[in-house]
Amino acid sequence: MITDSDDPPKLCKAPRFYRQWEIIRDPSKFINVLIKEFGDFIYYRGVINFYLINNASLIKKVLNETHRNFDKNTVIYNRFRNAFGNGLVTAEGDHWRRQRKLIQPSFKPKLIEGFSQIMLNSSNRTIERWDNFCKSETTFNLTEEMNMLTLEIAGKSLLSDGFNSAAKDIIRWTHVINKYSAGIPLPIISKKWFPSRLNFKLRRALREYRSFLSKTIEARKGNEQGEDLLSVFLSMRDEETGQGMDEDEIAEEVLGVIVGGQETSATALVWTLYELSLNAEVEEKLLNEIMNVTSGEQIDFSRIRELKYLKMVIQESMRLHPPFWFENRNAMHDVELGGVRIQKGSMIAISRYALHRNTDYWDDPETFNPNRFDEESSRKNNGVEAFAYQPFSSGPRVCIGRHFAMMEMMIILCSILQKYKLRVDPHYKYKVATNLTMEPRGGLPVILESR
Ligand code: HEM
Repeated sequence: MITDSDDPPKLCKAPRFYRQWEIIRDPSKFINVLIKEFGDFIYYRGVINFYLINNASLIKKVLNETHRNFDKNTVIYNRFRNAFGNGLVTAEGDHWRRQRKLIQPSFKPKLIEGFSQIMLNSSNRTIERWDNFCKSETTFNLTEEMNMLTLEIAGKSLLSDGFNSAAKDIIRWTHVINKYSAGIPLPIISKKWFPSRLNFKLRRALREYRSFLSKTIEARKGNEQGEDLLSVFLSMRDEETGQGMDEDEIAEEVLGVIVGGQETSATALVWTLYELSLNAEVEEKLLNEIMNVTSGEQIDFSRIRELKYLKMVIQESMRLHPPFWFENRNAMHDVELGGVRIQKGSMIAISRYALHRNTDYWDDPETFNPNRFDEESSRKNNGVEAFAYQPFSSGPRVCIGRHFAMMEMMIILCSILQKYKLRVDPHYKYKVATNLTMEPRGGLPVILESR
């Protein structure tokens, strides 16, 4: 990483409605064009007005130092709120503080280890199923497979075997919720009552989900001491008030874990395997590490930390392909940012995709190079430049599931790579679909070879 001074860039105003139509076609590309033409601090006025920041010190201010001046009361988060309620991802103010304080302890690295067996078992089942693909050299959709796998892991971590009987429904509900959330946040159409096909499907999915969760909670009454996250949520009590979460709150948090954690992890896995298939040297070095640590046996999670290069590979993959690529905040009152007065109600936008390619911080940014994350480079980059890397965001709203996600991705990748070599189908044409996450358009077709 190249170091930069703390001085923020000068604000540049883009002409009104500048290339507005391109937001709809490809919002990430549109943002890249704006940055290329107007710099790293831009005021854009169009159908939606926003300040675009692509600078580590401005991001540090918004997400960390002065985060209390900004909330998630934006058109984009309001649409998410319609879909998955007021759980941690979308919650605000005292409600968010209470929920975060309650839930945070269950996502500590030590406790996450309790889920590693689920991660390992689910990975093994997937890999066994792939045996047929491998023997018959069948091309299959890696995106679908990774989505199913991470959904199973999230579902079993939350509901234990209660997930099995509802798996098909949960897949359907999640699909509708993700589709709705990724839609364009136009004011009227976003309202749940608006009579569109998607809104109808969303209302039905949410109704069915709530009824399923009510029944699951009812069945656990008097027996809340299980080991899954639902049991943890049911038994949590606020230290000061002694109060727990009510059923609505639990339903929202469960949905938040599924929606916030499933597609993001699946996307990161797909991109990591994609990059490994293109970078033979990296793949070889990684395999050597995996063999040294595991001796070809199933990974023992107590040794997962020894897979240092694997962690670097994932970090570099999330730099080039940050799953949750876009962030936005609302200025709660008139605030000063980078020497500019920003009016109450303005939206601040961040593209992690652009930030992770900003040449102020990254040498040769398009190159996949996990060594950027070796210990020495990481030690050097603990100043403002650390804020140029944001896959899990930062500050008080940093991803609560990041340790879970890292552990999950390391277990899955280790298990897959021990057994198979993945190659992208030679007919595949690289194209990216920009939704909630950025992923290979139409899914990534791959072919397996046995190791
Ligand atoms: C590679 C996988 C993942 C990525 C890239 C990711 C990314 C993010 C990001 C960028 C945010 C912050 C959004 C903001 O700035 O407000 C976030 C928040 C959150 N994530 Fe993740 N996430 C991942 C996995 C997970 C998992 C596995 C879970 C749950 C088990 C999870 C649960 C959450 C929740 C509940 C929040 C809201 C936290 C709060 O606002 O207090 N995420 N995630």
